[in-house]
Amino acid sequence: MSAGESPPDDEGSPAGAMARLLAAAWAARDAAICTYSGFAVGAAIEDGEGRLWTGANVENASYTLGLCAERVAMFYALTHGARDFRRVVVVTDTPKPTSPCGACRQILWEFARNAEIVLANRQGDLLHLTMPELVPHAFDDAALRR
Ligand code: THU
Repeated sequence: MSAGESPPDDEGSPAGAMARLLAAAWAARDAAICTYSGFAVGAAIEDGEGRLWTGANVENASYTLGLCAERVAMFYALTHGARDFRRVVVVTDTPKPTSPCGACRQILWEFARNAEIVLANRQGDLLHLTMPELVPHAFDDAALRR
């Protein structure tokens, strides 16, 4: 199944959904362009309709222009109309699962506040987090309504 397609009819259990997300995130990671860091990251996001949206990090010779896997996946999803995100999976080949950077946390807070966040590595270590755990004392639109 490609990113953005609807889930198969027999898809439904939380375990099945997580397996599908993990496979999509690992597949997305294969397309990472991490020329400078050598650090490949894959992300997969499940929207409210069960559709998956994936991304990988993209780096550039002008280093600061690179974008993390999470934001590639999230902007891809958002610009195709996806909303109500349920789960976000991030995968790296590291001894421990990798946490999203601060910029990605901010974006995830705004668009996937109720999603379950799952960080995983090759060994199958899974770290399940909520967004409030990842972003305590978040800045958001509420602060703008002063
Ligand atoms: N990176 C991500 O894609 N996601 C993360 O959660 C952490 C960092 C990328 C950015 C950069 O391309 C590389 O990993 C090294 O920082």
